[in-house]
Amino acid sequence: MSVILAIESSCDETSVAICNNGKITANVIANQTIHQNYGGVIPELASRVHQQNIVPVIHQALLNAKVNKNELNAVAFTQGPGLLGSLLVGVSFAKSFALALDLPLISVNHMHAHILAHFIDDPKPEFPFLCLTVSGGHTQIVLVKDYFDMEIIGETLDDAAGEAFDKTAKLLKLPYPGGPLIDKHAKDGDPLMFKFGEPQIRDLNYSFSGFKTSVLYFIRDREKENPNFIAENLNDICASVQYSIVFILLNKLKKAAKQLGIKEIAIAGGVSANSGLRTGLRDLANEHNWNVYIPAFEYCTDNAAMIAMAAHYKYINKEFVGQGIAPLSRMEF
Ligand code: KG4
Ligand code: ZN
Repeated sequence: MSVILAIESSCDETSVAICNNGKITANVIANQTIHQNYGGVIPELASRVHQQNIVPVIHQALLNAKVNKNELNAVAFTQGPGLLGSLLVGVSFAKSFALALDLPLISVNHMHAHILAHFIDDPKPEFPFLCLTVSGGHTQIVLVKDYFDMEIIGETLDDAAGEAFDKTAKLLKLPYPGGPLIDKHAKDGDPLMFKFGEPQIRDLNYSFSGFKTSVLYFIRDREKENPNFIAENLNDICASVQYSIVFILLNKLKKAAKQLGIKEIAIAGGVSANSGLRTGLRDLANEHNWNVYIPAFEYCTDNAAMIAMAAHYKYINKEFVGQGIAPLSRMEF
């Protein structure tokens, strides 16, 4: 039996989940809206809001799971990667909570957890599988051999896919985070209306900085001819941007699957909520006979349920850490 409380605070979501014997019984997420005023996450503000949110979110998670804190068996937390000030709030709270309740501590790698979100619900992928992990900070193709035996076989050399969405959205004067808004406008647009530069990167790696620049020049040139170009073509621009990013992402995933002869394919991270990516992956699955695994929306963007799931597997192996543990903004995979 194990009842684990898990805390996620790596960026701008304060989240707490409870995992009862491998089943998620609570997953509370407090979003920080303050960053919308600045067009991106302000680290200093993020850590302050985590500090304000953490205790109410803990209470709510215990209430939702109908668990008393004295019934807990372990406390888990995101160690990294992430914003140091944000991580510090979660790590410090977890350490104090575990010390007060005399419980073991479990540290979790945020990127492992995004992938292990696939073990929350059925159907679960079989090892070995490939996971395209696409978030605001990362873009990786990961060969997952076991719960904690993972190898990055391709990754971005500059911007992450989420950044490509968010920075393009900013060029289109959409508020932060722009990824979901591009997705929304794309639904009513023509994906083949405009073409943007496709990066020529070798191996299984990605690059999105050139793509972002090509959108910047495209908009600058069109606005010279028509100052209302963005407003008049927003849906078509969003659909074309989304189509290009998804095309780049899936092309390398296809290449990786072919090279390794793997047909178990998953996506994870905030950008896996993108409707174009989800549909594109399902189409590829039909074409190539893949079994694809797409997380429920609530487990795509940052959440503590995925931290709790990873902690569940560490608890089984009694993989605990001491009170000397520190957050790591850049963490080894
Ligand atoms: O995994 P996540 O919540 O946080 C990080 O660990 O970075 O990912 C956040 C990223 C943001 O860049 C956001 O714009 C993007 O995921 N995102 C989306 C969508 N939903 C979230 N991008 C495109 N389409 C979406 N529907
Ligand atoms: Zn994340």
